Amino acid sequence: MAEVEKILEKDVSRRSFLKTTGIGLGVAAGALVFGTGIAGAQTQTGTVAEAPLPYVELDPEEARLRGHAGYYMAGCMYGAFYAILSMLREKVGGPYNQIPYRMAGYGRGGAANWGTLCGALNGAAAAINLVAPDADTNKLVSELLGWYTITPFPSDKSNAIASAKGFKYDAKPYPTLVHVTSVSNSPLCHASVANWIKKSGYELGTAERKERCARLTGDTAAHAVELLNAWKAGTFVPTFKVDDQTAACIQCHEGDMEGKMACTTCHEPH
Ligand code: HEC
Ligand code: HEC
Repeated sequence: MAEVEKILEKDVSRRSFLKTTGIGLGVAAGALVFGTGIAGAQTQTGTVAEAPLPYVELDPEEARLRGHAGYYMAGCMYGAFYAILSMLREKVGGPYNQIPYRMAGYGRGGAANWGTLCGALNGAAAAINLVAPDADTNKLVSELLGWYTITPFPSDKSNAIASAKGFKYDAKPYPTLVHVTSVSNSPLCHASVANWIKKSGYELGTAERKERCARLTGDTAAHAVELLNAWKAGTFVPTFKVDDQTAACIQCHEGDMEGKMACTTCHEPH
């Protein structure tokens, strides 16, 4: 028997052993992880718990800096997710050490450059859902999306940090000019970026447009942390309300259509 076949046979019998003894793949994977010396917070069955993970109060200003740096590592969703998760790794550790940042890489450019949900929102929302039960996640994410649609980006804070060269975690220099701001009126990457391009005159491929999105990523991560801190302290109260026109549309069309996005960004009023 060839060497390779022997190895294969061994592997198969090991697997059927695990199967017949009812030891799931989770244990095998856990054993492998420990076997290679990567210490982790695996539970006894080798899988991370489905329950919300522990949250401790975080510093929103630190999230703003990390979100900006994270944007340049692997995009907007990665940046917002990384900002929050990296702090939770430091302050809580355990299960957070087992969650790879790269799972948030796909969200760049509104999901693989499709211009759908802004990646900064997507990444922050993923972090929120890691720590909050579903009902609370809905409230927190809804508030974050609503806030995003009416907020001028980049914020005065991140403009000021950039012009003072204060984004200290960035590996490379970034444009430091104070950017003009724009309001997206939409949670969509496409609308958000397009409105800023229109207002600033900087096109999609420019370093300035990317820097605008880096600051927006920091701003969104920072606000997500503010919301989570309030939620943790039991003081979170949703404040976002759809504008009056959208509220009127929804009043008649509730039940026809899912959504809180400002209707007239896509439909003519009638
Ligand atoms: C006073 C109630 C009322 C308000 C307010 C209202 N609509 Fe309508 N809308 C209707 C009715 C009734 C129809 C036609 C019947 C249907 O197709 O459901 C309709 C049709 C539509 C259609 C076409 C549906 C189709 O089947 O082709 C769209 C799109 C639409 N409305 C969007 C909006 C938007 C956007 C707003 C707010 C700017 C709005 N509506 C405000 C009652 C309303
Ligand atoms: C991002 C773009 C976008 C936004 C924002 C949006 N819609 Fe639509 N909506 C569409 C598209 C696309 C369709 C399907 C094609 C069409 O009917 O125009 C549609 C269809 C509809 C229809 C017709 C459904 C049917 O049965 O034919 C209604 C009613 C409607 N939208 C209402 C609303 C209301 C109310 C809002 C705000 C709460 C809203 N839409 C926001 C893109 C949008």
